[in-house]
Amino acid sequence: MYSGLVPRRWPPLSPRFPLWIPRRPQRKPRSRWALPRHAKPSLSSTIAPENLTRFPSPTAPSAPWDGDAGILRYRGYPIEDLAEKSTYLETAYLLLNSELPTAAQLKEWTYNVTHHTFIHESIKKFLDGFHYDAHPMGMMISTIAALSTFYHDAKEIFNAESRKKQTYRLVGKMPTIAAFSYRHSLGMPFVYPDNELSYPGNFLNMLFRTTEYRYRPNPTLEHALDVLFILHADHEQNCSTNTIRGVGSSHVDPYSATAAAIAALYGPLHGGANEEVLRMLMEIGSVQKVPEFIKKVKAGETKLMGFGHRVYKHYDPRARIIKRVAYEVFDLMGKNPLLEIALECERIALEDDYFVKRKLYPNVDFYTGLIYQSMGFPMTMFPVLFAIPRTSGWIAQWEELLLDPEQKIARPRQIYLGHDTRQYVPIDQRS
Ligand code: ACO
Repeated sequence: MYSGLVPRRWPPLSPRFPLWIPRRPQRKPRSRWALPRHAKPSLSSTIAPENLTRFPSPTAPSAPWDGDAGILRYRGYPIEDLAEKSTYLETAYLLLNSELPTAAQLKEWTYNVTHHTFIHESIKKFLDGFHYDAHPMGMMISTIAALSTFYHDAKEIFNAESRKKQTYRLVGKMPTIAAFSYRHSLGMPFVYPDNELSYPGNFLNMLFRTTEYRYRPNPTLEHALDVLFILHADHEQNCSTNTIRGVGSSHVDPYSATAAAIAALYGPLHGGANEEVLRMLMEIGSVQKVPEFIKKVKAGETKLMGFGHRVYKHYDPRARIIKRVAYEVFDLMGKNPLLEIALECERIALEDDYFVKRKLYPNVDFYTGLIYQSMGFPMTMFPVLFAIPRTSGWIAQWEELLLDPEQKIARPRQIYLGHDTRQYVPIDQRS
C-alpha cells in the first residue's frame, strides 16, 4: 500500500505498477489538523494498486476511478454485461484469473468448486456447538477460521497449487457452511451438497430442502441469486477487502485472512447494512411515517441505512440492477409489503436538499434485503448472502497482494497525539 504518496507522472506507466514517489518528509505534526496533506483518517488516502474492480470515469478513462459516474467494471467488463450474460462461477473465475474462461476452463473450474463443497464431519460438530440463536455471521467467522486447523497445506501461500486448492475449498465450502449455520438455527438436519445443481441452486437446496427426494430450485430464484452473487463479487478497496489485504500481508493462511474479512463485512456500516435496512423499514412501519423518519435523519438522530457510499457519489450501478431483480422476485413471490416504504424513502431522499447536497444515493444494500426476505431468508442471513460471493473477490485481492513484489506487511504510520513521557504513580498516591 502506498500511504501519503503521490504519482510521479499521470497517468501511471502501468496500471499494475504505477510509479510513486514519496512527498518530502513532513515535520512532526502537533495535532490531528497538522497531518500531511495526503494523510487522512480512515485510510482514505491510502492507495492499493489493484487490477480487479474499477469505477472508471467516462470522461477521463485513465483516471483511477470515478464514483461520481456510477460505473463499475470487473477486470474491464461492465457489471451490467456480467449480470445479464454471465454466471457467478464464471465471474469468480474472471476475478481470480484476469480473463473470462474458455468453455473447457469453466467446466474444470466448476467441477473443482463443486467437488470441494463437502465439509469435514468434525466441522458439523463444531457448528453444533453454537447456541441455537447464534448469528450466522458469527458462526461463519469462527468456522472459516477453523478451516485453517483442518488444512495445514494452506500455510504454503507461495505455492500456486496450494493457493488454487484453498480457493476451490473456500469458494466451494462457503455456501455449505452458510446453509448449515442457517439449518442449525432452525434445529433442522443439515442437507448435504447436490453436485448436479448449479452453485446458487445447490445453496438453495442446502437451505430449504425438507422431505423432497430431490430438490429442484425455482429457476427465477436461482437466477436472481446468481445475479446478486455476481453484483457482490468484488468492490475495490472497501472495508473487508482492505482487511483481507491487511491481514494477508502478514502472510497468514487464507482461511484466517478470510475470517477477518467476514468480520469486517459483518458491521452495520458495511455488509451488515442490508440487515439494518430491513430493521429500519420495519421500524418506520408505513409510507405515511416516512417524512417523520427522514426528519430524524436530517436532524442527525439516525441514518438512512442503505444510503451513501465512500466512493459512489451517484446512484450505485449495482442498486439499479438489484431493483430490477427485485421486481422479478416479487412477480413470483408477491410484493414485499416493505417495498412501498423503501420507494417512498428513496423518492423523498432523491429530492431532498440534505441528501442531494451530500450526494447520498441508494447503495447495493438498499434493495437486497427486500429481495432476500421475499425469497424466504431470515434477516440474520442477509450479510451471509453478501459474504458468500465476496469470497472470490477477497481471494483474488489477497493473491494479487501476495504476488506483488512491492508489497510489505501493512502498517500505517501513526501520528501520536498523547502524553509525553510520564512518571509512574504508585496506586496509593493517585487521586
Ligand atoms: N444517512 C444520513 N446521512 C448520511 C448517511 C446516511 N446513510 N451517510 C452519510 N451521511 C451524511 C453524514 O452524516 C455526513 O454529513 P455531514 O457532512 O453533515 O457530517 C455526510 O453524509 C458524509 O458522510 P460520511 O459519513 O463522511 O461518509 P463516509 O464516506 O465516511 O461513509 C458510509 C460512507 C459509511 C457508507 C455512510 O454513507 C453510511 O453510514 N451509510 C449507511 C450505512 C450503509 O448503507 N452502509 C453500506 C455501504 S455499501 C457497502 O458497504 C456494501
